[in-house]
Amino acid sequence: MRVRSPKVAVVGAGAVGSSLAYAALIKGVARHVVLHDINIGKVRAEALDMAHGSQFFPQATVEGSDDVEITRDSDVVVVTAGAKQRPGETRMDLAQSTVNLMRKVIPPLVERSPNAIFILVTNPVDVTTYAALKISGLPPNQLFGSGTVLDSSRLRFLVAQRCGVAVRNVHAYILGEHGDSQIPIWSSATIGGVPLLEWERQTGMLGESVRDGIAEEVVNAAYEVIAGKGATNHAIGLAGTEIIEAVLRDEHRVMPVSALLDDWYGIKDVCMAVPSVVDRRGVGRNLRQPLQDGELGALHDSAQIIRATLTELGF
Ligand code: 2OP
Repeated sequence: MRVRSPKVAVVGAGAVGSSLAYAALIKGVARHVVLHDINIGKVRAEALDMAHGSQFFPQATVEGSDDVEITRDSDVVVVTAGAKQRPGETRMDLAQSTVNLMRKVIPPLVERSPNAIFILVTNPVDVTTYAALKISGLPPNQLFGSGTVLDSSRLRFLVAQRCGVAVRNVHAYILGEHGDSQIPIWSSATIGGVPLLEWERQTGMLGESVRDGIAEEVVNAAYEVIAGKGATNHAIGLAGTEIIEAVLRDEHRVMPVSALLDDWYGIKDVCMAVPSVVDRRGVGRNLRQPLQDGELGALHDSAQIIRATLTELGF
């Protein structure tokens, strides 16, 4: 009997798709990685460049093609295709062109991998995810967005740096829009099990102005990287790979992915990042950590911003 090894399709061989495929390969997340892009020269070159390094990553094959057929029977499909955010542009500025693109891109992918878990990365990711879900006709567990997994990682990095502890000992989430209205949830953040606000009382570190500065740095992180090198790719590649891993290894990991909400603290009919269980069935239950009034109000405002864009686009 032939044992089928997990297959991951990455759609879009730009900076994000290529970094994501590379991260998936070197972390040994899938035995078969395919890249699909309409730019044949670019997609072949990216796949070839990675394949030339096969000796140095865990056993896997990598292929690239401009033919969508290469994605057939994938276990996970990651969509990164879309316009690039130019310096000064917000993620939301890309909404209309991205939704138009999803109408073309999503149906042939779903037709070829109807049982795959779909992970949307293309910005504005919350709007893209909702549109792709409606276009695909898939059940909401099977298609979700990368949400604020990356923003939360940026937050943890900055808190860890300020406090002199390892990033993995910081538990803190950015929730809401993967964009300008995102919210850091300080009230339930912990450092090595110590509530972050208690850490402030004990050490005098992370006072309100420091926390505000960190939150601002996280919101501006992508703008800063884009200004310097034209795109963000490595951190989102790693974040996307973590999500693929949680799916393929059926990890039931809690991640702030962008999921369709159906009365999460009264928020519904938008895709937005809240802590959710990710496993082989895709995105499952949404957790409700206790929130302070200001945080909850800001999350409602963030949902409103996403909903308003969706309504403008006819969803
Ligand atoms: C990022 O946050 C631009 O959404 C991309 O890096």
